[in-house]
Amino acid sequence: MKILEHISDMRRWSEAERCAGRRIVLVPTMGFLHEGHLSLMREGKKLGDRLVASIFVNPAQFGPNEDYSAYPRHLERDRGLLEKEGVDLLFRPSAEEMYSAGHRTYVDVEELSSVLCGASRPGHFRGVATVVAKLFNIVRPHVAVFGLKDYQQFRIISRMVEDLNLDVELIGHPIVRDEDGLAMSSRNAYLSEEERKAALSLSRSLIKARELVSQGERRSSVIIAAVRAEIGKEPQVRIDYVQLVDAAGLRPVERIHDEALLALAARVGKARLIDNTILKPGP
Ligand code: PAF
Repeated sequence: MKILEHISDMRRWSEAERCAGRRIVLVPTMGFLHEGHLSLMREGKKLGDRLVASIFVNPAQFGPNEDYSAYPRHLERDRGLLEKEGVDLLFRPSAEEMYSAGHRTYVDVEELSSVLCGASRPGHFRGVATVVAKLFNIVRPHVAVFGLKDYQQFRIISRMVEDLNLDVELIGHPIVRDEDGLAMSSRNAYLSEEERKAALSLSRSLIKARELVSQGERRSSVIIAAVRAEIGKEPQVRIDYVQLVDAAGLRPVERIHDEALLALAARVGKARLIDNTILKPGP
């Protein structure tokens, strides 16, 4: 696996691959890889001729009181995992090269960025959209793969690609869960054994919501109350939000007519965890 750290080298490599008619797939990550990331790599492998993974802990998407410096990093382990998955190239630029001292340009995807996680993490999605736009410009992939645990992120990036006419196809990959149901996340590393058990109430609450919908419940208020009650059984879990929104525009819905996104965020110890499911009436 080739490893590149400089933007100019990355551009040169991509240009040569494109000229040779090869289809480039990018999986952007912040590293500290887990099975969820690796399933994105496997998906990416099927979608083109060259698979690029990026590892960049993006300072622009962390708030002043968030875990940028404490964010888990383990480059050697990540490198081995990517190699095993047959990744062709790892791009790992430095923060200094990605954000030069004079950097003043940001991508702001309005409305979608200020709801759900955006309400409690102001500026977060501006940082995400900016770095993803930069990575698209540097790596110039034909296809990019993102996990749907960050459903809001995927919607925002999709909007950005459409609004800025970016020439890249986006693929959203389903949430990968541990055997106990916990959605995989690099931040699960912050959880103690006891906190991890408490965190299972998140996925349990989503199952509860799906059961209610399959029994004919359509009212958001009832579904949200049931989710909150399930999570509330674990005093260590502090809910940030539980919302039922339309899956495209992320606006709150009062009833489920078609497809709705049930999204939640909660703090467990030091970790802020998110999870979601699509609720659909019908069999
Ligand atoms: O989902 C992530 O890991 C990050 O938000 C991303 C897309 C790599 C941008 O930094």
